[in-house]
Amino acid sequence: MDVDKVRNDFPLYTSASKDFIYLDSACQTLRPIPVIEAMSRYYLEYPACGGRSVHRLATQVSIEVDEAREKVASFLGAERPEEIAFTKSCTEALNLVAKGLRYRRDEVVVTTDFEHNSNHVPWLQMQKSYGIKRRFVLTPPSGLFDIEAFKNAMSREVRMVSMVHINNINGTGIPAKEVIEIAHDYGSLVMLDGAQAAPHQKVDVDHLDVDFYAFSAHKMLGPSGMGALFGKMELLKTLEPLISGGGGVSLTTHDRADFLPPPERFEAGLQNYAGIIGTGVAVDYLGRLGMQEIMEHDLDLNKRATSRLQAIPNVSILEPSEAKHRGSILSFNIKGMSSHDAAMILDEIGKVMIRSGMHCVHPYFVARHLDGCARASFYIYNNENDIDRFADAVSEVASKFSM
Ligand code: ALA
Repeated sequence: MDVDKVRNDFPLYTSASKDFIYLDSACQTLRPIPVIEAMSRYYLEYPACGGRSVHRLATQVSIEVDEAREKVASFLGAERPEEIAFTKSCTEALNLVAKGLRYRRDEVVVTTDFEHNSNHVPWLQMQKSYGIKRRFVLTPPSGLFDIEAFKNAMSREVRMVSMVHINNINGTGIPAKEVIEIAHDYGSLVMLDGAQAAPHQKVDVDHLDVDFYAFSAHKMLGPSGMGALFGKMELLKTLEPLISGGGGVSLTTHDRADFLPPPERFEAGLQNYAGIIGTGVAVDYLGRLGMQEIMEHDLDLNKRATSRLQAIPNVSILEPSEAKHRGSILSFNIKGMSSHDAAMILDEIGKVMIRSGMHCVHPYFVARHLDGCARASFYIYNNENDIDRFADAVSEVASKFSM
């Protein structure tokens, strides 16, 4: 990948204050000029409602939204654009499914212990409302997904396997195809939280045969406040909308509402048109770079960073130690320091920006009596110099502050 060329598309790298090392893309990526320009064009040239008014500006909005939906469908390998519903986040997409299904008491939902709160709290709410049961596939000390533990968690009572595709703590993934096949054999549905997978690897929902797939746009060059849900059409038709109102119904009377077919029934209320259009441009941008190339680039950087950090005294990397299992994520702790202190000092001394804390995966850390970890995450605009400056800064912090 030609990182210098990529960097030229990101205004922060071409600005006067370009001396920074951004390693927090797992939280939010930077945005390239084509995405920013497409969103500005909406506000400058056709800032109207889609799917409602019939004048020329509104028609242009509707056409651009349809095109964005087609781009996202093609990016995810979905057969039909109507199987993509735009949401305001991956969180909303996960909630849409969790709260859109109707449950019988004692039906079971299986997750991992690596779930983001977005794929944990909605199920806790369903436990309270419907009396569903939870089963967790626990992660062993190796840090890798335990397929045998998953098999043991499965039974005919399982209604849904809802799992993070790649987690945001140690960057490991689940063997999605195998998990989906096993779950389907038990008659269970499967939803994957793709927030950390879709930005970094080719996802093909058709090949995976997954029932629902959720992702966030802001972790893959797109705007904040945007996400999307893929769902198989016959299943989307069975979901109750999470948000209902104008734009989601065909006709209402005083005592009746007819919902539009998916995906419109899930997109009630005025939509984030600039965000939807920007999301389409973001997935196009990634598609042009090539997901395989992106995956290899991220891993190369991670290997370099891992080998540098492994040589620094008092720095421990969250298992697994080999970068090849962790894609674009490297989480670590410095002995005797809180992860927040480490992150703040790295920024202070080296303008190195990482994330720290529990990363919205509290149960994982609480169960292990840990207060979090520092996390560096790599993406298309990072280069080897970024990695070296990051490692130099970690080395300085560890030698001065580790206890
Ligand atoms: N925003 C969350 C993170 O940084 C998911 O990992």
